[in-house]
Amino acid sequence: MSVTELFGGTQARAAGSFETLTIRRPDDWHVHLRDGAMLKAVLPFTAAQFRRGIVMPNLVPPVTGIAAASAYRERILAARPEGSDFTPLMTCYLTDITAPDEIERGFRDGVWAAAKLYPAGATTNAHYGVTDIAKLAPVLERMERIGMPVLVHGEATDPAVDIFDREAVFMEQEMLPLLRRHQGLKVVIEHVTTAETVDLVRAHAGRAAGTITPHHLIINRTSLFQGGLRPHLYCLPVAKRERHRLALRKAATSGDGNFFIGTDTAPHLRSAKQAECCSAGVFGGATALQTYVQVFDEEGALAHFEAFAAENGARFYGLPLNEGTLTLEKRPCRVSPAVAVGDEDVVVFRGGEELPWSLGEVRG
Ligand code: NCD
Ligand code: ZN
Repeated sequence: MSVTELFGGTQARAAGSFETLTIRRPDDWHVHLRDGAMLKAVLPFTAAQFRRGIVMPNLVPPVTGIAAASAYRERILAARPEGSDFTPLMTCYLTDITAPDEIERGFRDGVWAAAKLYPAGATTNAHYGVTDIAKLAPVLERMERIGMPVLVHGEATDPAVDIFDREAVFMEQEMLPLLRRHQGLKVVIEHVTTAETVDLVRAHAGRAAGTITPHHLIINRTSLFQGGLRPHLYCLPVAKRERHRLALRKAATSGDGNFFIGTDTAPHLRSAKQAECCSAGVFGGATALQTYVQVFDEEGALAHFEAFAAENGARFYGLPLNEGTLTLEKRPCRVSPAVAVGDEDVVVFRGGEELPWSLGEVRG
């Protein structure tokens, strides 16, 4: 299937010339690919855009061991569209009983690229997460020693904390102490949503980095209620006030090497979103690069796009930069509003909207 067919088939080439931007092939440092029919349905969108992806381990049951990660990796490779060279980078779901030796062995054998720290209950399928981060010290010390990054879902889990304050409270109560305890640990603060977290990343440059999603660059918390409740825009961490969205746009487009792509594309069936209790997650995987490049264009920062999309993340992880190029084209397109999964579907973030930028050719 061609990229044009996959993304909805309305990318007819506009007459005349259009601006293009060719960059080194980019990576997605935070992606939920799920499993089974959902994996098969959503993977082509990520694989069409990104050369590598850091795959989140929050399956049911979670990916906590080397054998499970290797098997999941094989399922992802088998689900790739024909001809795709997409490379999944696996992560270990940390729990209260994660063994430092398992972490080290999986990292040295090239199974794990990183480990994911979910505070217990913080988000979708996080109930096996860590109940007391201080008790994780032996695991984190080992990771520090071997140079393995920890990827943190940074939200407080106390239900009494206001949902819009959960990231801020976590940063104060958990992240700063963690960074003090483990001065040599590489920490990725995933899906940064506040201006204060941007500052925290900058204050720990070199050992802390932040991923930024496409949706947090586009929506604020008011968008969740625009004309009525918008379940497909609900994710965790939940979008914050406009001043935070503006700070994220500045951070992403600033050229600061501590920030990079992490789409947090998190598909849920429409029936799980349009439900009495809506699951958290935005499926941004089909419109991710189109959205990021639009934001860089609007901010007058296209010169910084390649670093954010294809260099900063690899450098932070200590991985080689990709070969080959991807071209983005400033010509309007519309991506399908939804993607079929069996008899159901998943609603696409910005699906059906006219987007000013399209995906172009991938080489190499
Ligand atoms: C993610 C999911 O659905 O797995 N949901 C989300 O809202 N981002 C989990 C996560 O990354 O928090
Ligand atoms: Zn996520």
